[in-house]
Amino acid sequence: MRQAPSKAYFGRRYTLSASHRLHTQALTTAQNRAAYGKCNNPYGHGHNYVVEILVGGAVDPETGMVVDLAGLDALVDARILARFDHSNLNADPAFAERVPTTENLCCMIFGLIKDELPAGKLESVRIEETENNYFECRDAPAEPPGPRG
Ligand code: NI
Repeated sequence: MRQAPSKAYFGRRYTLSASHRLHTQALTTAQNRAAYGKCNNPYGHGHNYVVEILVGGAVDPETGMVVDLAGLDALVDARILARFDHSNLNADPAFAERVPTTENLCCMIFGLIKDELPAGKLESVRIEETENNYFECRDAPAEPPGPRG
């Protein structure tokens, strides 16, 4: 009897340095300050983000790999690092109407690469923003936000 192929996961870590300012036109100056605190500083601030990409899939019987590492690196370089590394996230058109929080950055990166992987399925994009904060986007529909209280 043939054994069903096992699903395996491959995670790869990239570093991305960028600045941002958390601010939305939807809120007043005072509300922005209350929501984002120091991150609402008009001059912005920077992070050395650590972006972790997790790909899952069957192990290719010939190569023994879930996804080709060089192919994944080329995709992330072209679509993510070339665009966002050493940038001001607020200046990117993708964030013209969207606050460049790290939640939004995770989901943006997820959407930019999920259909272009050389193999496997994009399971998650996880970003470490600071020693204490990390964010993750997974391929699941999000509950819409509730009414603002
Ligand atoms: Ni920040």
